[in-house]
Amino acid sequence: MKGIVLAGGNGTRLHPLTLVGSKQLVPVYDKPMIYYPLSVLMFADIREILVITRPTEMPLFQELLGDGEHLGLSISYASQEKPRGIADAFRVGADHIRGEDCALILGDNLFHGAKLPTLLRRSAERLRGCVMFGHEVADPRHFGVAEVDDRGRLVSIEEKPERPRSNLAIPGLYFFDGGVVDVAKRLVPSARGELEITDVLRAYLEDGLADLVWLGRGVTWLDTGSHETLLDAGRFVRDLQHRQGTRLGCVEEIAMYMGFIGAAECHALGARMSTSPYGQYVMDRALAYRQGLPPARFLEEL
Ligand code: DAU
Repeated sequence: MKGIVLAGGNGTRLHPLTLVGSKQLVPVYDKPMIYYPLSVLMFADIREILVITRPTEMPLFQELLGDGEHLGLSISYASQEKPRGIADAFRVGADHIRGEDCALILGDNLFHGAKLPTLLRRSAERLRGCVMFGHEVADPRHFGVAEVDDRGRLVSIEEKPERPRSNLAIPGLYFFDGGVVDVAKRLVPSARGELEITDVLRAYLEDGLADLVWLGRGVTWLDTGSHETLLDAGRFVRDLQHRQGTRLGCVEEIAMYMGFIGAAECHALGARMSTSPYGQYVMDRALAYRQGLPPARFLEEL
C-alpha cells in the first residue's frame, strides 16, 4: 500500500505563524508537526510515502526527511501549486499511486491510542473500496460528518454541515483502492472552489464501497488547524510524554520497532541529536531494544 501525506495549503488560520514557512513544519511541542502523520502511516506498515507540499517549501521538507532511507522508508515529493482541495492529492499523486491501494493522511492530523497500530493494519488489509474513520466530537460543524443508521451503517456524509446529523466527525485519514485517482479526476470543485474529500467518500458510498470504522474512546484524534487546537495538541503531547517518559510521533523509534531499521541505526540517528532530550530518548530506546524489550510490548504501549 502507498501512502500520501498532504502537507500543502496556505495555513491562513495560523497567520502570522505561517506567513513564512509551512504549517506542517510548525512544532507540536518537541517535533515538527509532520512527524505525527508520518508516524501513523508507519504504524500502518506503509513505507512508500509521497509528501505533497507547496512548491516554495518542498526543499525544507526534503532537508528534514530526505529520501526516508534512514527510517527504512522511501519518501518522494510532489508539489501542489495551489490549494485546490484535499482530493487534489489523488491527482497530484496519480503517478505515485499507480493503481495501487493508498492511504491519505492530512499533515495537520495527530492520532494516538493503544489500539491504533492494529486498527490501521487491519483496515488496510480488509480494504474494499474505501475506509474512513469516525470519531465523536463535541462540535462536528468544522469537519466532515458521518451519519449512521441504528445498526451503525454509514448512510450519509457531509462536509462542515451547519446542522450536523450526528457528532461523528471524519478525521483526516483515509484508505482507498487504486480507483480513487479516477474518482478524483471526475470531481468538480465545491461552492468554496475545492475538490472535497467528502465528495470522494460519497462517490464510494453510492457504489456501496465505503466502510466506516469507529475509532472509539481509546483513540485520541486532534487536528492542529487553529492557534487553540495547536496549543491543545502541544499540551497533550507534553503532558503524556512527561507523565509516561515515552514519546509520541518519534519516527526513529517507530522505524526500529516496526523492523524498518536496526537498533544500531536507530542509535546513530539519536546520536546526531544527542544534545536534545529527544536525541537522548532515541538513543535510550535503541539501547533498551538491544537489551531485549520486546517489540510487541512496545506496540501495545502506544
Ligand atoms: O481534519 C479533518 C478534516 O479535514 C475533515 O474532517 C474534513 O472533512 C476535511 O475537509 C478537512 O477539513 P479542514 O477544514 O481541516 O481542511 P483544511 O483545508 O484545513 O486542510 C487540511 C490539511 O490539508 C491542511 O494541513 C492543509 C492541507 N491542504 C489542504 C488543502 C485544501 C493541502 O495541502 N492542500 C489543499 O489544497
